[in-house]
Amino acid sequence: MERENFGSRFGVLVALAGSAVGLGNLWRFPYLVGSYGGAAFIFVYIFFVFILCLPILFSEVIVGRRSHSNAYGAFKKLAPGTKWKWLGAVSVFTPIIVVSYYSVIGGWSLEYLFKACTFSFTDTSTQSQLGEMFDNFITSVWAPLFGHTLFLFLTGLVIVAGVKSGIEKFGKIMMPVLFILVVFIAIRSMTLPGAFDGLIYLFKPDFSKIDASVCSAALGQAFFSLSLGVGTMLTYASYIRKDENIAASSTYTAVSDFIFALIASCAILPAVFAFGLNPQEGPGLVFKTLPFIFSHMPLGGIVAILFFLALIVAAITSSISLYEVGVAYLVEEKHMSRKSASLVVFLIAWIMGVFCSLSFGPLSDVKILGQTIFNFFDKLSANFLMPVGGLLIVIFVGWQMKKADVIDEFTNGGSIRANNRISGFVYFMIRYICPLVVLAVFLSNLFF
Ligand code: PHE
Repeated sequence: MERENFGSRFGVLVALAGSAVGLGNLWRFPYLVGSYGGAAFIFVYIFFVFILCLPILFSEVIVGRRSHSNAYGAFKKLAPGTKWKWLGAVSVFTPIIVVSYYSVIGGWSLEYLFKACTFSFTDTSTQSQLGEMFDNFITSVWAPLFGHTLFLFLTGLVIVAGVKSGIEKFGKIMMPVLFILVVFIAIRSMTLPGAFDGLIYLFKPDFSKIDASVCSAALGQAFFSLSLGVGTMLTYASYIRKDENIAASSTYTAVSDFIFALIASCAILPAVFAFGLNPQEGPGLVFKTLPFIFSHMPLGGIVAILFFLALIVAAITSSISLYEVGVAYLVEEKHMSRKSASLVVFLIAWIMGVFCSLSFGPLSDVKILGQTIFNFFDKLSANFLMPVGGLLIVIFVGWQMKKADVIDEFTNGGSIRANNRISGFVYFMIRYICPLVVLAVFLSNLFF
């Protein structure tokens, strides 16, 4: 059977950026910026994204496009008869772990969209009532499970429709919509009286705030936000045609991902400051603090609906990319139809997600290595599997593949002048600097 490809350059960009832009930008980045000192965190983050993580993204994309295979098949094809296929196997399984807990938060977003549409946050709600509303919701059994199931099902629908008419088409419509939504909310938030303090917090760096914990949080976030180390970018890149410029597509992806994170922060933090609330709320920032703000600001009812809609759109385009890794593997390696493969991935992710969801309520006492199931999955993937995956992929490209092949893929056989010029530097980064820095930060996380 003929392998599908993305149909256009814009299609490639919206797919890659769709994977990158997600809950990481709208939910995680703003609360990390809030907790880790504002502009100083952003500054370190920029450094990690563009200097360190971009070459890692190049590496994944090179492996994907060179092999034109799923995450497992890619390593079998490029390094036949070696143990690298185990990296492929892990790369197929990690995204299923991620999608299982990702869809739990996706489900929360669906519930909050519903709440926003039914005007459940009213101007008489106090902050503690809204906090309680959230806590009661996530610790209950059925409502979050329903959200999780619905979210995963919606993701599955896009996947079943295929690479071009599902993933690419969905991204082409949804990414511009997402952009407009987030910009609109940011303008509303920045024009609130008192919002200026939030902008100062976001853009005026206090370098004394940079320490090891800021660096490690920023690197973790850069990995998560660029969807690195879990085979998603590799799988998407396997659908990129040979005449596309992968360096440009990857760079645009990193730039769009950063811009979305920044606009999302402008949508959230100035409003938090305008209401004199605490930016260091952590993960609850979006689900506890924001509903309070929405319920007390002019046009808040509409902004709430648009915000949770944006959150869902961003989350679905990312979860599609996670889901696709397993589907591509089952279709190509196990010769399943796309429909059956989607069903298998749905069932595995659904079952794991059920445990994640229940771990906020009835299963909150079940601990794996001292963590609840949700936190264990989250930490296992973000702090362990993603950095290790990223480390191994740069080692693969820098040390296992032939230099000539890497450069050939990066420059389309030497035919793209701009890529020719930077290929030596990029290769040096991939071979020496990226493995060292990722290893250093990873080890310091393990031991300190
Ligand atoms: N990058 C996505 C986000 O920011 C999350 C993600 C991680 C998606 C890994 C795919 C792979 O929300």
